[in-house]
Amino acid sequence: MFKPGDAIIEARHLTKLYQVSRSKCLTACDDISLNFYRNQTLGIVGESGCGKSTFVRMAVGLEKPTSGEILFYGKNRLELKGEELRLNRRNIQMIFQDPSEALHPRMKVKEIICEPLFNFNLIKKSQMESKARELLEMVELPGSFAERFPHEMSGGQRQRIGIARALSLEPEVIICDEITSALDVSAQKMIVELLLDLQNRKQISIGFISHDLALVQQFAHQVAVMYLGNVVELMNGKEVSTKARHPYTQALLDSIFDLHMDYSKEIVSIDSEIPSPFNVQEGCPFKERCIHCMTVCKTEKPKLMEIEPYHLAACHRYG
Ligand SMILES: Nc1ncnc2c1ncn2[C@@H]1O[C@H](COP(=O)(O)OP(=O)(O)OP(=O)(O)O)[C@@H](O)[C@H]1O
Ligand SMILES: [Mg+2]
Repeated sequence: MFKPGDAIIEARHLTKLYQVSRSKCLTACDDISLNFYRNQTLGIVGESGCGKSTFVRMAVGLEKPTSGEILFYGKNRLELKGEELRLNRRNIQMIFQDPSEALHPRMKVKEIICEPLFNFNLIKKSQMESKARELLEMVELPGSFAERFPHEMSGGQRQRIGIARALSLEPEVIICDEITSALDVSAQKMIVELLLDLQNRKQISIGFISHDLALVQQFAHQVAVMYLGNVVELMNGKEVSTKARHPYTQALLDSIFDLHMDYSKEIVSIDSEIPSPFNVQEGCPFKERCIHCMTVCKTEKPKLMEIEPYHLAACHRYG
């Protein structure tokens, strides 16, 4: 299913440390290896501050890892030069949480969505109108939106403009960092359906970062669950609700709000605070909050290991 040959981006052992003061070092990502495959969606979930954005920023080349390497079609990204590097930048696009920040307030929609094409000298000024309309059609917005400014649209419509802009270069990988978090459920659904339809038509690889496991497991082929800078479980999206093994993933599943839930039963949720990413302690990162914590968990960090085909977990209970 996830053949190494189909990986467009391979992130290998990425670690990111931030030296925030002379004595304080923060571990944002700790030895993360994840791949982005053609025509597949990788969902990355976890609480705020667990390192999701830092990881994808490194994977797309916006931030330098402290250690580890990023391969693009099997070649170390640092070794790419000239045309290869240009192609790499064109082929990987990122869409951010707040579309307003990415959209220049004084530029019209047509200028915003065609800007990357001008930057790469792919169209002439005379082609802007027709290209803008084509891209708007692709994200199911009327062509008349080409003349609007960002403030004249809803949040969901602005997010589609962000997608149209990212797609204008026909990238092979699109990384969406919390792009649906600020939207209502129906707008969320429309954006996800739009992305999946584009994936079907263009075989793009999608990285979908979210704190919403319920949403991500519905459409991601593979789901990576992050905790305190670590990937603690990696598995088939379809199997998350039935086969998740890591106590953190199970706690996330237990705390998903459900209209049909049985209120007579105790609602299990992780009620303690996430530990500080400063000067990370030895042992399992989840040890303080884990209901199954054993002696070994306090001293030895569990490795992310295959517990069944295509299913990895970092937990001593399965070691
Ligand atoms: N430039 C930076 N300098 C210092 N610390 C940083 C920097 N960027 C991120 N961090 C820290 O690294 C950790 C991971 O941050 P990151 O933004 O990757 O988390 P996240 O999982 O994307 O969170 P959220 O869901 O809130 O977006 C956090 O503790 C954050 O404070
Ligand atoms: Mg983030």
